[in-house]
Amino acid sequence: MSFLISGGRVVDGTGADEMRDVLIEDGIIAAPRVTSDGAETIDASGLVVAPGLVDLHTHVREPGREDEETIATASAAAAAGGYTAICAMPNTDPVADSAAIVEKVWAQGREVGLVDVIPAGALSRGLRGERMADIGEMIRSPAEVRLFTDDGRGVQNALFARRTMEYLAGFDAIYAEHCEDDGLAAGGQMHEGNWSAALGLRGIPAEAEELMAARDIALARLTGCRLHLLHISTAGTVKLVRRAKAEGVRVTAEATPHHFTLDDSALESYDPHLKVNPPLRTHADREAIVDGLADGTIDAIATDHAPHSMEEKEMEFTYAPPGMLGLETALALTLTELVAPGRIDMARAVELLATAPTRILGLEDQGSIAMGRPANVVIFDPDETWTVDPGEFHSKTRNTPYAGRSLTGRVRHVFFRGARTVADGRVLEEAPV
Ligand code: DOR
Repeated sequence: MSFLISGGRVVDGTGADEMRDVLIEDGIIAAPRVTSDGAETIDASGLVVAPGLVDLHTHVREPGREDEETIATASAAAAAGGYTAICAMPNTDPVADSAAIVEKVWAQGREVGLVDVIPAGALSRGLRGERMADIGEMIRSPAEVRLFTDDGRGVQNALFARRTMEYLAGFDAIYAEHCEDDGLAAGGQMHEGNWSAALGLRGIPAEAEELMAARDIALARLTGCRLHLLHISTAGTVKLVRRAKAEGVRVTAEATPHHFTLDDSALESYDPHLKVNPPLRTHADREAIVDGLADGTIDAIATDHAPHSMEEKEMEFTYAPPGMLGLETALALTLTELVAPGRIDMARAVELLATAPTRILGLEDQGSIAMGRPANVVIFDPDETWTVDPGEFHSKTRNTPYAGRSLTGRVRHVFFRGARTVADGRVLEEAPV
């Protein structure tokens, strides 16, 4: 099947932003021709044509919590959100700390066939931060794991972090950290500041994140290991990353849509859907995150898509688990919060959502619509305004704080390896490959 995407604004994530046709033939991006006999034409006038989005940070909940999300439902949510690849976090049950589990996640992703599901492996067995997981086996498995993290928990022991970085450096694999010093976080529920004091909720100081980020940057410098800082949330961490990059440390960082959209003042509502880890920070932190995304300090936007059942999420704030959905709103939040007000341009948005995550993970088949590359493409309307209705989500759960919010920018079509996974905004759920 071939498709001619005609008259669109092609933004390829390398800085190019131009009007041209894109031809998809036999699963790859083909050379445009004057006549494209037999190709289905997709009128993309007024639409943006970009590489399929790549999420560095998705909780698929399978194995273990299939009541909350499965690889199939996460893949459908990802496709609906414009993604063609997701990196699956290892805090499942059992934890993805062995080749058997990552292979299972990878194989299940292929069977669903809506996006590439790229498993991340755990750094430590059972995420306990004590003994190393089967890192070598996970790297050598068919899943070819490249990113390792105990996400959901920070590695508390500096010697364990050092030894694991030394080991990973031998494979040029990535040590990815959920930066949080447990002692300092002290069971906090939200960011520590004026709002936590006013609301009577125990706070997590910014320093709980910054101490671990600083430690890991020092250890990455010592070991030469590639370091990726997950969902950074404070102005101090942005500063640390900026300085480390200037000094040549091999560090990359991501930020979530909720950390550039919301701040801790929103918690006045005590809405448990706003409870996330790391917590929503101050207005000044949010501004620093936006600046970091704009100036290249923060490399990528990652969703931290974290499905939780409504029974668990609708508990009292203190008892509700942290996390919110992200895959089906990330692109629109980026366009609404960053592109529309002129904080970043469309080319940078595509770089943050597609090209940079591809580069970080070292993926060969994603992040480009250059000729001859696998046809992973998203086509979206940058101007369509819509209202978030969680009832329409493809995720199994509904834990979003954005219900009823008006957003600009909507996915129209997605191609995954040349097959259509989304047509006119509708996910074609049957496996296309
Ligand atoms: O808010 C969060 N939820 N942050 C994490 O790091 C883990 C995640 C989850 O697994 O629910």
